[in-house]
Amino acid sequence: MPVINRIADFASDMKEWRQHLHAHPELLFETHETSAFVVERLKEFGVDEVATGIGRTGVVGVIKGQGEGPMIGLRADMDALPIQEVRDLPYKSKVDGKMHACGHDGHTTMLLGAARYLAETRNFAGSVALIFQPAEEGGGGGREMVEDGMMERFGIGRVFGMHNWPGLPLGKIEMTPGPTMAAADTFDIVIKGFGAHAAYPHDSVDPIVVGMAVGQAMQSIVARNVDPIDTAVVSITKFIAGTAHNVIAEEALLAGTVRTLREETRQDIAKKIKALAEGVAAAHGASAEVDYRFGYPVTINDPQEAAFAARVAEKLVGAENVDSERAAEMGAEDFSYMLQKVPGAYVFVGQGDTAGLHHPEYDFNDEAAPIGASLYARLVEEAQPVAR
Ligand code: NI
Repeated sequence: MPVINRIADFASDMKEWRQHLHAHPELLFETHETSAFVVERLKEFGVDEVATGIGRTGVVGVIKGQGEGPMIGLRADMDALPIQEVRDLPYKSKVDGKMHACGHDGHTTMLLGAARYLAETRNFAGSVALIFQPAEEGGGGGREMVEDGMMERFGIGRVFGMHNWPGLPLGKIEMTPGPTMAAADTFDIVIKGFGAHAAYPHDSVDPIVVGMAVGQAMQSIVARNVDPIDTAVVSITKFIAGTAHNVIAEEALLAGTVRTLREETRQDIAKKIKALAEGVAAAHGASAEVDYRFGYPVTINDPQEAAFAARVAEKLVGAENVDSERAAEMGAEDFSYMLQKVPGAYVFVGQGDTAGLHHPEYDFNDEAAPIGASLYARLVEEAQPVAR
């Protein structure tokens, strides 16, 4: 089993924590009970310092190792999703319309497991900061913790995070050198035309026809403006207009998301959407107002830190179970903000054959928790070995 023996010893405790967290999901920054649970456990483990209220409900625990040395950060997210759980698990969500459908209950548990082990053994130099963040799912909890000065306050020099991955077999660990998850932006385009009776279209400027032309033109962005070797997604996910069969509308709304792996491509696409929407609308005698909002930036692994994480993972689970050249994902992650401040890496941990992330049948695989906890712990011990 690719697990530290001492962590395997208390795997049943970890399972209890995880299932307790699963039954009590909290959204965004409202992770009050979850944060309190984390604080209680950290104190129980004898962690040297526990700081709360960082990024509103974020928690940072500090464990001092042996002697002087750097501060390494380990990060887990704590928040759940506004999804109704459908499976009748014994530890099913007790809150209607909320569930841990992304496994952040498991991530919190993995980091708690590592905290317990590291506080007991302290077989590392310097210190470790255990970062428990709220609001990963769209709230920017990672950004708020960084903006609160967390990296400077604790002197964190490098940072590692993990996500469970359904479909990746249990015991497998993967990472990508460089960009690993996409930037996620959103846009709303309001097309303003001129309404009329549907039998008299010549009296109108039909915003639906204009909207179709704008949407069609936007399909050329990825196909004709983005380097084929680069990767981007432009998805229009809403097209809303009209009220009746015999009325030409005044306005149409197009909305959607843009995913990119390079900042330059991201900026280019933002400009291109505005230019196309305004230009195509003007050509039809209509106008377009584009509201482009930059969301989470690209999550960029430092290639050396990704390679370091791969070596640590190989020692833990064997080289045959590690892929250090994993392809990037077009999903997004607000761990990106921590990686903008200090070098580090984001790692994917096999969760086995379960329902997908954000699916109402998803449930974190408790077997993955001791593996993740062992990896967190070994990252610290290998990054900051005790001087002999
Ligand atoms: Ni997630």
